[in-house]
Amino acid sequence: MSETASESDWSDPLDRTRFPVDEWALVEITPSSDDMGNTETLFAVGNGYVGMRGNMDEGRAGHVHGTFINGLHETWPIRHAEEAFGFARVGQTIVNVPDAKIIRLYVDDEPFILPEADLLDFRRRLDFEEGALTRSLLWRTASGKQVQVDSRRMVSFVDRHLGVIVYDVTVLDADASVAISSQLFNRQDGIDEFDQPPAEFEKGRATKADFDPRKAEALTERVLRPRLKRVIGARYTLGFRCTNSGMTVVAGIDHTIDTENEWEESTSLSDDLAKHVYRVKAKAGQRIRIVKNISYHSSRGVPTRELADRSDRTLDRAAAEGHEFAAQQQREWLADFWDRTDVEIHGQPVVQQAVRWNLFQLAQASARADGQGVAAKGVSGTGYGGHYFWDTEIYVLPVLTYTSPIAARNALRFRYSILEDARMRAGELNQHGALFPWRTISGEESSAYYAAGTAQYHIDADIAFALTQYVAATGDTDFLVRGAIDILVETARMWADLGFWRSNGTPKFHIHGVTGPDEYTTVVNDNLYTNVMAGANLRCAALAVQSLRELDPASYAHMVARLSLGEAEVEEWTAAAAAMFIPFDPVLGIHPQDAQFLEKEMWDLSKTGADQRPLLLHYHPLVIYRFQVIKQADVVLALFLQGDKFSAEEKKSDFDYYDPITTGDSTLSAVVQSIIAAEVGYSELALKYFMDGLFVDLADLHKNSADGVHIASTGGMWSALVFGFGGLRDHEGRFTIDPRLPEGWDRLSYRIMINGTRVRVDVTEHDVTFTSEVVTTAAGAIVSFTVRGLEVVVTGAAPVTVSLDHHGPRTPGAPKTITVGDARRADGSLITASVPISWAPEFETAELND
Ligand code: BGC
Repeated sequence: MSETASESDWSDPLDRTRFPVDEWALVEITPSSDDMGNTETLFAVGNGYVGMRGNMDEGRAGHVHGTFINGLHETWPIRHAEEAFGFARVGQTIVNVPDAKIIRLYVDDEPFILPEADLLDFRRRLDFEEGALTRSLLWRTASGKQVQVDSRRMVSFVDRHLGVIVYDVTVLDADASVAISSQLFNRQDGIDEFDQPPAEFEKGRATKADFDPRKAEALTERVLRPRLKRVIGARYTLGFRCTNSGMTVVAGIDHTIDTENEWEESTSLSDDLAKHVYRVKAKAGQRIRIVKNISYHSSRGVPTRELADRSDRTLDRAAAEGHEFAAQQQREWLADFWDRTDVEIHGQPVVQQAVRWNLFQLAQASARADGQGVAAKGVSGTGYGGHYFWDTEIYVLPVLTYTSPIAARNALRFRYSILEDARMRAGELNQHGALFPWRTISGEESSAYYAAGTAQYHIDADIAFALTQYVAATGDTDFLVRGAIDILVETARMWADLGFWRSNGTPKFHIHGVTGPDEYTTVVNDNLYTNVMAGANLRCAALAVQSLRELDPASYAHMVARLSLGEAEVEEWTAAAAAMFIPFDPVLGIHPQDAQFLEKEMWDLSKTGADQRPLLLHYHPLVIYRFQVIKQADVVLALFLQGDKFSAEEKKSDFDYYDPITTGDSTLSAVVQSIIAAEVGYSELALKYFMDGLFVDLADLHKNSADGVHIASTGGMWSALVFGFGGLRDHEGRFTIDPRLPEGWDRLSYRIMINGTRVRVDVTEHDVTFTSEVVTTAAGAIVSFTVRGLEVVVTGAAPVTVSLDHHGPRTPGAPKTITVGDARRADGSLITASVPISWAPEFETAELND
């Protein structure tokens, strides 16, 4: 990265002859079959409940023809080659629900097959204000007729069960016989005559690199058992029950045709396929319009007959209101969304477009999850099996809390709904309180590899962090009183029980045998991130209990009885938080990631080729664990989330030490590195990391966007803008601002909602201005911030501007790896760096195929 950061100084990773810049849409003007998996993800539509990948309407060639319902999963027994007590037993995998996107087109019996068609014009557009994917193309058939095909696909943010496709065909210059076959097809189990096995599974092509633990488990048995099928007029309903999980799903499609041409229709229905065919005698220039309304309903076990009734209600309503009404509602919903959420980077259209694409995807993953979790890939793909991780609390919830508080509340309600499972899991692991699963859909732990899974106890503290942040930002104490306080109590209990006191003069509280966020270092003692976050968890739980006792004695008494909470327990939490052991190495002047971290030698990343990345796909975990090498921000994440516990000097030293040994092999890393790089003054590096996060999917930087959108990164991208460049921090309800605008950026504007007041923050090189945009509650009228020590009170009256004479220190370049040969541990030994050599013979393709 060069000195200034205007757009001309970094290379735009997208091919703009194919994806022209548009600040409010992602547009593609040249179709390509080479990266279908990726574009299916980029052009996906969804609402957090149901998601449809951006497959072409005709449903022929595709990487994964995916439609997903948040939480709808199949279970399977996890077979550990070597069992042990307490290992996760039930695997959970998101199901590909019946595909309603398919509309096949035939002109004079010639099928329209996009990759083979003679296209005179093509354009697709995912519009962030319309909330729709449109495609417009002009096809010249083999006999030379020109056919205009326009389609529009949306999944409603307003009516979470509804999708709408409008498909228009006009034979421009001749009469023709046109057939349009609209389908609903169970792809999870059914075989489509056009289905190709996804390229990655093709026999004979498997290579070492094809193994990827981040992909979903393949389900080999029949998953969706047919329970119901019916057709009434042009409306079809298919109902299924998942073989093992017992979950049920019903999909419905309904059609209308609008044309001046003569037409007739036919129906066909089987267990896995519903097909409605219109045969039209098309006159030159006469448009044929098919409107296809789609509904999905699912449940943990409600009979499909009941779901079919619900589906009918959705389809009846959609038919009565019409597709234009649905489109209008969508537009209004999004106008409000952008009022609350937009981040403007003035004068940087390329960045602006990518920022909005990320925010739009975040909405598509979370807006109507309505009490389900937010999966690592939202509803856009099968990656990570559709599971919920800590990604939600640390990467997604901050943006929701400050822009869509209701969605944040709903996501936290999901955690509340699985508290009982978490209690049982804690019990199974010999602990009091609750231990939330590292990865799950149903509430049960589904991580088969405990070292990088269940051992990440920090998930408890992450959930408590997000809950505390939500309550502080929204003032929604009612949510705590109504039961969410139980999360704080049970997680605090878990820490109090898991940790222990050890005295060497001053008693300290230690936590052993856990894994921090960095999955390249597992099962360690006193992981810094875990200890700092657990301390905050214990302190916030104690404060919440004390405040309930003072403000609402009746609810307090109820809670104490419900949870059998003793006063001594709460006192111990406060004491443990105050005495939490924070590892520090006085010789290197840094916080070791954990008690043993500095014992290891370093992995020399400067000598590790790109063909060996990510390390997790090329080295056995034991090899990786032996080194100081990091998958993702760990200490550096603590410096951000608990920044008020560290001095500026400590942050700089820690960042300098950890940055060169951070691989960024997880997409959860770059955005956090960006935030701390900005804070400590590596402004160019901060921008580079920001761009890495911003374009993770748009430019497929981690080569797995085909598996779905990296949702944590989309949320982290917002954090990098607002907390990183925007300089906002909230530490337990205290708001400070210390901006770090990148050089070359004229103005950054973001919005945050605090206690019912929406404040727009405009940061320029010379000042920061606060404008109160909307006040939604009586409580929300005054918001105060501290700008570099100066107290600023924002009221509805007039904008307040504070001058800035700098944007923090500016250090060019990036920190260098500590000079090996100079760096010594506290015992005087030298820290060395190397790269493990592979002695294995070249991986044999044949072995995989046996
Ligand atoms: C990261 C985890 C993350 C998971 C799901 C992994 O690669 O290391 O921190 O929770 O992906 O996004």
